[in-house]
Amino acid sequence: MHVDILIGLQWGDEGKGKIVDYLANKYDVIARFQGGPNAGHTLVIDGVKTVLHTVPSGIMHDRPTNVIGNGVVIDPVTLRKEVELLLSKNIDVNKRLFISKKAHLIMPTHKVLDAASEAAKGKAKIGSTLRGISPTYMDKTGRNGLRVGDILSSEFKNIYERVREKHLGLLKMYDFEFSLEEAEKPWFEAIEFLKGLNLIDSEYFLNNALSKGQSILAEGAQGTMLDIDFGTYPYVTSSNTITSGACNGLGIPPTKVKEVIGIAKAYCTRVGSGPFPTELDNEVGERIRQIGGEFGATTGRARRTGWIDLPALKYGVMINGVTQIAMTKADVLNDFESIEACTAYEYDGQRSEQIPYDLCNTAITPVYQQIKGWNTDLRKYSTYGELPKEFTDYLSFVEDSLGVPVSMISTGPERERLVFKDVLASV
Ligand code: GDP
Ligand code: IMO
Ligand code: MG
Repeated sequence: MHVDILIGLQWGDEGKGKIVDYLANKYDVIARFQGGPNAGHTLVIDGVKTVLHTVPSGIMHDRPTNVIGNGVVIDPVTLRKEVELLLSKNIDVNKRLFISKKAHLIMPTHKVLDAASEAAKGKAKIGSTLRGISPTYMDKTGRNGLRVGDILSSEFKNIYERVREKHLGLLKMYDFEFSLEEAEKPWFEAIEFLKGLNLIDSEYFLNNALSKGQSILAEGAQGTMLDIDFGTYPYVTSSNTITSGACNGLGIPPTKVKEVIGIAKAYCTRVGSGPFPTELDNEVGERIRQIGGEFGATTGRARRTGWIDLPALKYGVMINGVTQIAMTKADVLNDFESIEACTAYEYDGQRSEQIPYDLCNTAITPVYQQIKGWNTDLRKYSTYGELPKEFTDYLSFVEDSLGVPVSMISTGPERERLVFKDVLASV
């Protein structure tokens, strides 16, 4: 049938996991298409919190199958832990989870290279999650990588040794101490564990599903502003986080894509280094961080906080072809008398809604519009009609600025806290 794509529109952590979990039962397949265990997608079901790093966020449901696509990079140790956690919750992983043989493997030496490269950058570090993401994608595009399917080859150990040797050569460039012994044993044990999971030719699996009339939800990781091509380079991740990444990362044709659901917080956060024009490095920012629990789901780092950035969101809507928006975490602003929204940037003596080429080295002054707060606990509402006027005015303002509807409003971390404006057109 068709594919809908769900992506983050900011710098990650927009609440993608929560929305995918809610929507998952409406689809036959949920498929992750890029990134790796740098992601942390949080689900809160019946008061229990689960953070997924590699496994798609549809895994808690019985209906959909979950596919880890070729575009994802997998740390077998992290994946094993995730699968064991799910098994301990009586989730039938064997029936629900399928892994592309073309997905690349994160090796212990990739993690060391990530750490060594960050340490060498000093103050200019990217703020990587140190999960080995960038070195693994470098080996993929450099045509040296190890793929999941390779673990089934009798030559696997030799291929591993060859790439490991290359990494040890590279590590000589850095003044960085490391030990691999502790990491390699569990890694090889996890490879044995991986052999017991469903390893598939995922491009056939997904296209066969489409031919049978099934629907697919492609789950993005990170966010548009962390995209390797269109994000705030070099302070980005190493994959295409945007809509087009779903076609590469799953092997599905663009002609099958229908809805593009962009996820955005009612404000904005970023974790790690790099430009963040609307950052609030003050008491207000701290208040948002505390109320919103803005601490990383993967690394526990404090997230930087700021007001909503409409020029950046407009950029995301344009690049991704967003057809509808899910706004999350509006409840975090419940007690604010007034909030602000950045409507334009001032730089080089001009006012513009366009993101400058070098956001890292352009002095930007955000132009803000003040918005009256709603001063109401949004968590108590379950239908659109009940929402306070000040809040629906804010939604209308965002919709008018971006030219797309806000179809879902998340008012809390729990699965059921979601208000729909328009029912999803295609599912
Ligand atoms: P993801 O990476 O995009 O899936 O997002 P994360 O899970 O890293 O971060 C989102 C955080 O906000 C998690 O702790 C969620 O449980 C929480 N969350 C999601 N939606 C809402 C919401 O509408 N309101 C509040 N207060 N928390 C939310
Ligand atoms: P989810 O899917 C927020 C950030 C890191 C760092 C930069 C590069 O949970 O939204 P990397 O480890 O990829 O080399 O780090 O990208 N980053 C994320 N920030 N959410 C994420 O994922 C992220 N994944 C990577 O903090 O700034
Ligand atoms: Mg996250």
